[in-house]
Amino acid sequence: MSLNAERSYKMKLRDVENAFKYRRIPYPKRSVELIALLAISCTFFLFMHTNKLNSRLKEMEVKLQPSEFSALGLTGNHISGHDAGKHDDINTLHGTYQYLKSTGQLWRLNPKFLNNTKFHTGDVIYYNRVPKTGSETLTELMIRLGEKNHFQNDRAPFSKPVGVYWDVERQRQEAERIMELQEDSAFVYVEHMNYMNVRPFHLPQPIYINMIRDPVERVISWFYYIRTPWNSVRNFEVSGKFPNRTHFLKNFEDCVLTSDPECRYHYGLMFKDDPGDHKRQSLFFCGHSPICEPFNTPGAIEKAKQNVERDFSVVGSWEDVNVTLTVLENYIPRFFKGSMELYYEPIRGLAFKKQNLNPWKPKISERIKRIMRANFTQEYDFYYFCKQRLYRQYFAINRHLHF
Ligand SMILES: *[C@@H]1O[C@H](CO)[C@@H](O)[C@H](O)[C@H]1NC(C)=O
Ligand SMILES: *[C@@H]1O[C@H](CO)[C@@H](O)[C@H](O)[C@H]1NC(C)=O
Ligand SMILES: *[C@@H]1O[C@H](CO)[C@@H](O)[C@H](O)[C@H]1NC(C)=O
Ligand SMILES: *[C@@H]1O[C@H](CO)[C@@H](O)[C@H](O)[C@H]1NC(C)=O
Repeated sequence: MSLNAERSYKMKLRDVENAFKYRRIPYPKRSVELIALLAISCTFFLFMHTNKLNSRLKEMEVKLQPSEFSALGLTGNHISGHDAGKHDDINTLHGTYQYLKSTGQLWRLNPKFLNNTKFHTGDVIYYNRVPKTGSETLTELMIRLGEKNHFQNDRAPFSKPVGVYWDVERQRQEAERIMELQEDSAFVYVEHMNYMNVRPFHLPQPIYINMIRDPVERVISWFYYIRTPWNSVRNFEVSGKFPNRTHFLKNFEDCVLTSDPECRYHYGLMFKDDPGDHKRQSLFFCGHSPICEPFNTPGAIEKAKQNVERDFSVVGSWEDVNVTLTVLENYIPRFFKGSMELYYEPIRGLAFKKQNLNPWKPKISERIKRIMRANFTQEYDFYYFCKQRLYRQYFAINRHLHF
């Protein structure tokens, strides 16, 4: 508004006032429009100002947050993986917290509605462990917990192939076999196998748990794990076969860039000819149905999410150690009470002994990881889904975070 224009507006405004005061002339039509215009502009300026204050407040809140988490022995941006350090990323612990808070959902979180443990009908845990997610560490932790909390541990032998594509009859046999292994009143069973729904078999409903990891990091880890000498020796003991020299010298980056069948991540890819295929983390949650096989497809991911939501008590991750252990302790206390203490026990604690580390794994460039991530979109969708669920379970039991 120029100075002149403003002055003339003011004069007109005075006219209106005078007209009101003395009621000599009828209320002019144009002045009504003018008042309306002024009112609208005032509202607009106030709105802009409120908005600015709001965003300032948000900024300050973000700065304040980390201390809330450090009070819990957690920091907002400690999460590893490619999203680490990005404050506004909804897939981090901190980002999920911000999102839930800003949408008003944080106050409504209730452990009752995030607790699938209450549906179990026998003290049996199925840990259908996903390879390369640190499952050896969790298995070892449960063996130690078993002594403390009095429960039995059992696992499938190394020689047993990963359980995929079992038909319903095979699933029934496997589920019955697992139940027959139980001797103590509480029992944990560990095997690399896809999720199976035991409801149709009229067996006690178990407690399902699992661990996940960044999908691309997991694939890289698998690639180098199968090339370690110790794994090759164990495989030789089972199969009597030893891979040739080319196999051991293969380099992951070349494998991806030359579109080697082992490192091909095309949409809808099947694995029938490649039993050692471990591209799909979601497979272990989706199950044995053919819909679970095509790589990175929405159908498989949807089914995996449904199973997690309906049946899994906890899907944790070593990327969030403290959150995972806290959630396990609180949602499955019969087995996991005292986990944090045991894990961080001085000297003997697993926190100080990394299981199954692979010194043979070289560093893979960000460029290669970016190329891969572009093809793992659905796998990431599932991975983040599980992470957010874990975080919600965690916030639900930490009521003092709700303010
Ligand atoms: C996890 O908890 C332990 C033990 O309370 C603590 O020492 C550690 O700093 C915590 N880790 C993170 C990443 O917050
Ligand atoms: C979840 O349910 C189990 C079994 O009913 C119970 O022991 C545990 O305390 C519950 N946890 C939470 C956080 O509600
Ligand atoms: C080594 O094994 C790979 C498959 O792992 C095969 O493609 C290749 O032809 C073999 N090379 C030799 C020299 O046998
Ligand atoms: C990613 O998917 C596209 C389309 O399916 C394919 O052309 C490309 O080769 C894939 N990249 C890798 C690394 O497999």
